[in-house]
Amino acid sequence: MATDLTLESDLKKVPQHIAIIMDGNGRWAQAQGKGRVTGHKAGVDSVRAVVKAARKAEVKALTLFAFSSENWQRPEKEVSVLMDLFMFVLTKEVKRLHKNNIRFQVIGELNRFSDKLQKSITKSEQLTANNTGLVLSVAANYGGRWDIANAAKHLASQVQNNEISLDDINENSLHEHTCLAQLPPLDLLIRTGGDYRISNFLLWQSAYAEFYFTDVLWPDFNEDELAQAIDVFEQRERRFGKTGEQVSSMNNENNN
Ligand code: IPE
Ligand code: IPE
Ligand code: MG
Repeated sequence: MATDLTLESDLKKVPQHIAIIMDGNGRWAQAQGKGRVTGHKAGVDSVRAVVKAARKAEVKALTLFAFSSENWQRPEKEVSVLMDLFMFVLTKEVKRLHKNNIRFQVIGELNRFSDKLQKSITKSEQLTANNTGLVLSVAANYGGRWDIANAAKHLASQVQNNEISLDDINENSLHEHTCLAQLPPLDLLIRTGGDYRISNFLLWQSAYAEFYFTDVLWPDFNEDELAQAIDVFEQRERRFGKTGEQVSSMNNENNN
């Protein structure tokens, strides 16, 4: 069944799907006179805290940007530490996620990772596949442009195989092939670390997301910081193209 993109006009206040660009690990470590790696390690503690806080806030989906398709350009040593950390998290933390009924998945172009890492990802996804609580998606070797190009490729191959016609290509069918299409629409996109950019994260999915930027560096981000972002989100008026008056009257009708 085709996803109805008009679901985005659901004007519910509580964010069901939050995504975070976890930025600022390197600067956090450097500010303490330590190497960037120390920052990445501290970043894992923040991930743990934020996953716990998201469950508490009854968020349905949490999507974390861990490694972008552009991050391969970093020094080899830093990339290798990030891969080791990723492996460590997959082997040590996934059991805890499973115990907490969390469904875990990795989004991105995974074939660039080592076989060992890919196997570990598959194993973790399989272990938690039937869990019914929070859906935790980690974006690794992910790029928003890749995601859209990949969806276009899927549709093109369906046309080539006569499974669909050219006229079947539209926003809804393309959406179906983008990452996260099965989850609630993205409500809130948070970026830590003080920069005001999307860095090729969820380009398609953030069409109507609310953006929240904070100077707090990722290793300092915690439950209180998440609560603050959710508070700000709840005060925003989402209009989805309508006028403020239309939105208020719809809200009044819903409340009666
Ligand atoms: C984010 O922190 C983590 C990754 C991109 C893997 P950074 O490593 O980008 O930290 P800063 O931005 O250099 O401080
Ligand atoms: C974005 O952070 C990617 C992740 C947080 C994984 P970057 O630090 O790579 O972004 P830029 O380079 O400052 O745009
Ligand atoms: Mg950065």
